[in-house]
Amino acid sequence: MVKSTTAGLDRILTLELVRVTERAAVAAARLRGHGDEKAADQVAVDAMRSELNCLPFKGTVVIGEGERDEAPMLYIGEEVGTGEGPDVDIALDPLEGTTICAKNLPNSLAVIAIAEKGSLLYAPDVYMEKIAIGPGYPAGIVDIDAPAADNIAALAKAKGVPVGELTACILDRPRHARMIEEVRATGAAIRLIGDGDVAGVIHTTDPDETGIDIYMGIGGAPEGVLAAAALRCIGGQMQGRLQLNTAEKVDRAKTMGIEDPDKVYTMNEMARGDVLFAATGVTDGNMLSGVKFARNYIQTHTIVMRSSSKTVREIKARHQDLDKF
Ligand code: FBP
Repeated sequence: MVKSTTAGLDRILTLELVRVTERAAVAAARLRGHGDEKAADQVAVDAMRSELNCLPFKGTVVIGEGERDEAPMLYIGEEVGTGEGPDVDIALDPLEGTTICAKNLPNSLAVIAIAEKGSLLYAPDVYMEKIAIGPGYPAGIVDIDAPAADNIAALAKAKGVPVGELTACILDRPRHARMIEEVRATGAAIRLIGDGDVAGVIHTTDPDETGIDIYMGIGGAPEGVLAAAALRCIGGQMQGRLQLNTAEKVDRAKTMGIEDPDKVYTMNEMARGDVLFAATGVTDGNMLSGVKFARNYIQTHTIVMRSSSKTVREIKARHQDLDKF
């Protein structure tokens, strides 16, 4: 087996991961536009789980389909893989953007990140406030505690463009009404998304392609850790703060080792060490095409990357052995 040159994960796992997200994406894509979120999620979970169980590691799901009592498969704590090979932590979302898949709208993904054991934030399934920008900016130019207008102004200055040329990506939720107002008042544009903030964060890494410069707002904590893992590989900056606004959530977080409920996590605190990340498009999106079902083949489009080498690969695969899917 080919070994990585750094201590950590086997390099070969990078490509193995592609098969995992490809299978989940194809399964979900068959139910694209059918209006049934649950069914699409279930087939993606089944496909991802059976592929994961072929991979040569001792994997523990640390970000998954939910906590054990509410998710029968790929729950937090479930062990996956063949049991041979390195101990790894796994963050996954077999179908990120269940509603966008059910409605056949852009940017639903099958997503996974793998890291050395103990390297990913064990986040409960609560909300997380997030801010993210792509690579190439001085450290610390945006801050989760700064007013939205200050972050926009600092980013425009660092990019060397007028504020009016920036676009912020924000989930279209009533909880963001004030933030939306503040950003609009600066003159910056907003891409309001219905769902799918893993893609929203990743899109900040390539503004020329996606038109998005900054992601801001509150989304899922599991999605936050997945996005941080992606940014660790491509580059960029991200901060996240769990929304532990009830005693029950604080207690739940404590059982996962989180002592300070107000802590701001940096990207490196959410995803440390050697991290591998893969995402396959389910529906067409700004960076990834969705699964294409042709007469004699199925086409998938995947981005796969590794933090230690910062290599980002895009794999467009044509699968002709249709019986496998
Ligand atoms: P699902 O894939 O679980 O449907 O999540 C979609 C999503 O939009 C995430 O991308 C985002 O982090 C979260 O939901 C936001 O949660 P909410 O819909 O409750 O505002």
